[in-house]
Amino acid sequence: MIPQPVLNEWYPVAMTALVGPWPGRQTQLLGSDINVFFEGDAIVVRGAAGDLAVCLAYGHVWACPGTPAHKLFPIPEADQPGRRLVDCGVVRVKCSPLRAVENFLDIAHFPFVHTDVLGAEPHTEVGRYEVQIREDSDEVWATKVHFYQPQAAKSAAGGIVTEYMYRVAAPTAAVLYKTCPNNPDEWDVIGIFVQPLTEELCKVWPWMALFDDTTPQADLIQFQQMIFLQDRSILENQIPRLLPLDPGKEIPTQADMTSIAYRRWLKRKGLTYGAQMVAA
Ligand SMILES: [Fe+2]
Repeated sequence: MIPQPVLNEWYPVAMTALVGPWPGRQTQLLGSDINVFFEGDAIVVRGAAGDLAVCLAYGHVWACPGTPAHKLFPIPEADQPGRRLVDCGVVRVKCSPLRAVENFLDIAHFPFVHTDVLGAEPHTEVGRYEVQIREDSDEVWATKVHFYQPQAAKSAAGGIVTEYMYRVAAPTAAVLYKTCPNNPDEWDVIGIFVQPLTEELCKVWPWMALFDDTTPQADLIQFQQMIFLQDRSILENQIPRLLPLDPGKEIPTQADMTSIAYRRWLKRKGLTYGAQMVAA
């Protein structure tokens, strides 16, 4: 039985550009089979029990299997002139969708998993940063995150201290804002939209809104794919497979503050699909 709060959220189910006429994309959402297809000029998401609520945003089709509790979260940068929007394809990962989001929020793994790209020894320390659950938008934010990166982006020429902000905008969607090598007044925006196929299997759709007119599209996509394939090998070996929502289960460190807030937020909202609850 899937909890109602889980059913009332929005989930990515396809890249809009790849949807065709019936049967369209055959995929899964929360363990149920769905088809994502064009009917006339509308996109329909159909499951065994009928059509799901649909919205289109950020290059993707989003569906809600229940009654939407709210609109899909905003990413104002998606409409900002001069930004280049990049759909980065999909990586299928044998892990809990919540673990995929949590890994995206974690900085401490950069030097060890994305060695010489997003991090490098001896620069392994994660300094103090701030984490809040923002009540107005009902989102988790981490700000003032600083980290040394040998190659922060495809367009970065050499090592820089990158500043980050992380935002959990939906249970399986997170957005990160990072120093823009080409434009110091702006942030590069990278989202990951995670489609929960089952509690232990997901598709991760990275998406970017960048100020970068020069890097070829194929290189941008290949860079993100390389990063997410490095993450996949870690994610598929995490034990336990479901995300524990009891904070006592894994030992937190200063670097884990975002993850602790994310777990607390999920638990409070009853968003437990892909989570391991505390034994009574
Ligand atoms: Fe990573």
